[in-house]
Amino acid sequence: MNLKDLYIDFFVSKGHVQIPSAPVVPENDPSVLFNTAGMQPLIPYLMGQKHPYGTRLCDYQKCVRTNDLDNIGDTYHHTFFEMLGNWSLGDYFKKEAITWSFEFLTKVLNIPVERLAVTVFAGNDIISKDEEAIAIWKSLGIKDERICPTANDNFWIAGETGPCGPDTEMFYFRSNDPIPEKFDPEDNRWVEIWNDVFMQYNKDASGSVTELPHKNVDTGMGVERTTAILEGVNDNYLSSIWSDVIALIEKISGLKYAGHEKEMRIIADHMRTAVFISADPAGIKPSNTDQGYILRRLIRRTIRYAKKLDIDINSDWEKEIAELIISKYDNYYSELKTNHEVVLNVLNSEKVKFNRTLEKGLKEFNKIVSALTDKVLNKDLAFKLYDTYGFPIELTVELANEQGITVDEEGFKEKFKAHQELSRTASAGKFKGGLAGNNEIETRYHTATHLLNAALKKVINNDVHQKGSNITDERMRFDFSCDHKLTPEEIEQAEKLVNEYIKEGLDVTVESMPKEEAIKSGAECMFIEKYPDIVTVYSIGDVSKELCGGPHVKNTRELGEFKIIKEEASSAGVRRIKAILK
Ligand code: ALA
Repeated sequence: MNLKDLYIDFFVSKGHVQIPSAPVVPENDPSVLFNTAGMQPLIPYLMGQKHPYGTRLCDYQKCVRTNDLDNIGDTYHHTFFEMLGNWSLGDYFKKEAITWSFEFLTKVLNIPVERLAVTVFAGNDIISKDEEAIAIWKSLGIKDERICPTANDNFWIAGETGPCGPDTEMFYFRSNDPIPEKFDPEDNRWVEIWNDVFMQYNKDASGSVTELPHKNVDTGMGVERTTAILEGVNDNYLSSIWSDVIALIEKISGLKYAGHEKEMRIIADHMRTAVFISADPAGIKPSNTDQGYILRRLIRRTIRYAKKLDIDINSDWEKEIAELIISKYDNYYSELKTNHEVVLNVLNSEKVKFNRTLEKGLKEFNKIVSALTDKVLNKDLAFKLYDTYGFPIELTVELANEQGITVDEEGFKEKFKAHQELSRTASAGKFKGGLAGNNEIETRYHTATHLLNAALKKVINNDVHQKGSNITDERMRFDFSCDHKLTPEEIEQAEKLVNEYIKEGLDVTVESMPKEEAIKSGAECMFIEKYPDIVTVYSIGDVSKELCGGPHVKNTRELGEFKIIKEEASSAGVRRIKAILK
């Protein structure tokens, strides 16, 4: 039996109900991007709300922590991990919690007592030293020298506010060295494996700490770390959780783990996290904000490390790795089964997208670096790498640091923010959906909608007007007024015309003018009453003129080849075209 099953069985035998893992993206808590601990989905119940399954719960919870990607590549950090936990919601307290932890460690996992040590809360001005926990550990056979009271590390809270309390942490001596009599939590041969938190307080935004309605227990044990310990390996990636994934990366790359540990660990770690994020019911897709941005960064970073191992990016390497990861976990997490195809599609389309600009971006990066007169990459160059080549700032920083160069990250962030403001204002002004991302690909699609609008007017008639649009970086959707289903000839003509406009290399120009003047000049617009008095008008050669907030490409040649992939009804009198740029 594996650790997860042993743990659940044990706590069920102690009267706990197993609850399912919550999604990695919190369902009702917009303040955090991901669940970072088992207790997070249980906060309302720790605060006093009644839980439908009672007062003793246990589970394994998917967690994602991405605050420090730089740590990934060592032997024990992971961006995704599973946390085992058992909870008392106003039911049992310190005695049972500690006793059961001890029993599980020594009787079920058969860890020798000599290899164990604990920290306990040493007390501060408000809360006194946890003598009770000390007495319980002693009664179980933990020696005085193996009990270390600390003040700072033994008070647990998730972030700044919320349920919290003193805790006691359990450590395992992971080394072949003789075990020292006295436990020193700073000695990294002792690794923390489990934490029992006695949650009896709530901390509010003003910093004041009050008693909760009842005393709870919240515990957390890391599956990856504990598994490695039980299997006697000092590198988590050598444990059964990772060994087959690493072996597959070895096979794909034709290289050995020894000598390429960092690259292979990063690929294995990031792929697993990307699989779980994209399988989540929240439906996260790579994007430039929030969880989508984390997902994008993880996938793009994986690709860069795969390139370092000379893996052929165009092969199915990411699919093979993802399928292995899915097969390892889908008995525990059904969404991996349900969203199997979704995951593969997310990984593949993000790969294809990034691969298109990666080579050029790396060339541009090298060009930039060789032209630097000092060791600082400025905000404009960092922004160019982001905007034109899709390099997340963290990637630019990583590449730069490898060459002893620093990046003006603060400057980049300001520029990035200003750019976002600009595009927000722009899209608010023009009422055309789907432009929040505003990356290079979306900009091209945006210009293509204007060309399609103009082409449809020519092919059908002048009564064609835009009724809506939605752009992702995969495709554009364009809704327009039209009283009939387009014939195949009409579709073909419209497509042909757009491609002609593209080939002609028409310049895109922008000017500001009073709204009335814009209308008089014949500029196309969707909801005239909603525009401000001064509007921006985009013209494409003399083919198209539209009120619009942008952004657009500078010349239609930048669009590539235009292809209509679908024509269908949208609503009464409105047709919808989906098209792609190749
Ligand atoms: N919530 C506690 C932790 O994450 C158990 O360590």
